[in-house]
Amino acid sequence: MAEEAKSNGSDGAVVAAQGHGMSEVAAGTAVISSDAVQNPGLPPHRKRVTDIDPKREKRAERTVYTLFYISIAGSLGAVLAYMFFPMESGELLEIRLHTMFVGLGMALALLAIGIGAVHWGKAIMADHESIDVRHPVASDAETRESAAEVFRLADEESGFSRRSLVRNSLIGALIAFPIPGITLLRGLAPQDQDPVELLRHTMWDKGVRLARDHGGSAVGPAIKASEVTIGSAFHVVPENLGEAGHVLDEKAKAIVLLMRLDQSELKELPERKDWSYDGIVAYSKVCTHVGCPVALYEQHTHHLLCPCHQSQFDVSEHAKVIFGPAKRPLPQLPITVDDEGYLVAQSDFHEPVGPSYWERLK
Ligand code: FES
Repeated sequence: MAEEAKSNGSDGAVVAAQGHGMSEVAAGTAVISSDAVQNPGLPPHRKRVTDIDPKREKRAERTVYTLFYISIAGSLGAVLAYMFFPMESGELLEIRLHTMFVGLGMALALLAIGIGAVHWGKAIMADHESIDVRHPVASDAETRESAAEVFRLADEESGFSRRSLVRNSLIGALIAFPIPGITLLRGLAPQDQDPVELLRHTMWDKGVRLARDHGGSAVGPAIKASEVTIGSAFHVVPENLGEAGHVLDEKAKAIVLLMRLDQSELKELPERKDWSYDGIVAYSKVCTHVGCPVALYEQHTHHLLCPCHQSQFDVSEHAKVIFGPAKRPLPQLPITVDDEGYLVAQSDFHEPVGPSYWERLK
């Protein structure tokens, strides 16, 4: 039996001291052992160098506002990098330089704000422990006054109002930081050109040969119809892709999958009978859901699978959607052969490639 037990009034909780005989304590009783670990309290307070040396405090202040100014420089640097390293030609090197310098500027801006804020808090703001006693939340006048007092104290101790250089440089850094983000919006559409028209047309045109895609901006050899055996699939780009001003942009629109089926398995609409050549068909590789590359071809079923959200298209029936979130078939590229037996386009696609957003513009 416990030597001492004390009822805790209204809620009925019981605190029992002295651990022996604990098995006799009623279930649900909180038991505190007499040799429980004592609250060690807070360690003795140690003053920082900036608390005792005004010169060091001044130096810390200089460091903080210098960091905020560095942040501003980083933000402006990102904007300048956007202007002086444009991606106009679409060359890979240009894109790399553009993203690297814009990214470095933005990283510097954010990093300097972060380091500056941490240094401000650690080296300059008042350093003392305080105990905030818990109390019921209430929004009476007294509480509001004490909240206002906390803000006033925080302002006084952080020096937010007093240290105008630090405060203003921080405000400047925070204002400057989003500017590169706004500048980047400019890259969403080329100047003086209608983005809708740009996306509507590809490089395919009458007589353009179909060539192997060798990755990146590299174009492989043109493909002869005799090289395409039944069951095979080729990743294809226009042979003249290298002549484009924005190679990767043009490739992203014009990329095509070429497959050959047994002609008896093709279920072609009468008006599209001459869009294929001897069982060889070409379809846009850009998924009509949200634009992922539809690159998985299942030879036996003639199904194309988009790995992003599992849309499936039936190549034997004009790439109609048979499963998944895509809403329209993959656009077909009309093809034929030229005098030398090379596969060539008859024209551009007859409808825009890519996500079904285009349906709304029809
Ligand atoms: S992008 Fe192809 S299914 Fe979503």
